[in-house]
Amino acid sequence: MLLVLALSACSGADPAATVSTAVAPSSSPAATGSTASATSDPSAGPDGSAGPDPSPTADAGAGTLPAPVQREPAPATSGAAADPTASPTTSPTATPPAAGTYTDPTAVDVVVNKRRPLVPLDFAPAELRQPDVATATDNALLRPDVAAAVEEMFAAAGNDGVALTLVSGYRSFATQEATYASWVAQYGDAAGADTVSARPGYSEHQTGLAFDIGQADGACTLVLCFRDTPAGQWAATRAADFGFILRYPLGFHEITGFSAESWHFRYVGKDVSLAMKAAGTQTLEEHLGLPAAPSY
Ligand code: DAL
Ligand code: ZN
Repeated sequence: MLLVLALSACSGADPAATVSTAVAPSSSPAATGSTASATSDPSAGPDGSAGPDPSPTADAGAGTLPAPVQREPAPATSGAAADPTASPTTSPTATPPAAGTYTDPTAVDVVVNKRRPLVPLDFAPAELRQPDVATATDNALLRPDVAAAVEEMFAAAGNDGVALTLVSGYRSFATQEATYASWVAQYGDAAGADTVSARPGYSEHQTGLAFDIGQADGACTLVLCFRDTPAGQWAATRAADFGFILRYPLGFHEITGFSAESWHFRYVGKDVSLAMKAAGTQTLEEHLGLPAAPSY
């Protein structure tokens, strides 16, 4: 794997520094502690993690490129939304977002999708730490509350004889920028990349609430067939008990905007995860009554 996500875990560090320091794919760690750097690599998984297969087909499964998401006519958008290379908005919002709008990037109910960028676009969580679980890469930082829930989930899986591994966690704006660019290079255009990778400022990974898991033996890592592994099946069934949802379920790309990712989980808290499980609701957008986000 050529993509290298070098993240040094440092609880209490200022990850916001990563936005300004990790501006280039090979930027150096800053003295402040938690830093992020990435080397753009077309072989990266759609979530910016080193995958088992040097082609994007690894993430589509079945040896074919993921079918592009059916794109609607593009709405009028800001430059940042329309241009994946646009610079982030660096100024914070003047006032906190209203409750119930699902726009507060520090809240566990924030909804980030192709119609709902992070505000500010280069948002970074105030604190990140690496959970005490098996990891497949060094890129395993999460918000502390999410890290604790991940530790609970992995322990429960272990008690059931299922060995999970954490494949990818927090990604800065700069890291997502490199990841997305690698996918544009792979597909040759943004339309293909947009089916599997979020543009910088539009990825849940930038919130510290989302992560990718795998099976400890590496079977089907970042490939749709992960859903058929014991780890994938366990997680799909039990994740809600720990406050997580499978964010990009198969067959819902017209709502979520992305091809199925059987490995990508998102912390929403148990109230939401258990309510969705009880109701059989597959997407966060449907649960919250928000519009579908099939395209930017
Ligand atoms: N692969 C997911 C959609 C991301 O890039 O955040
Ligand atoms: Zn992911």
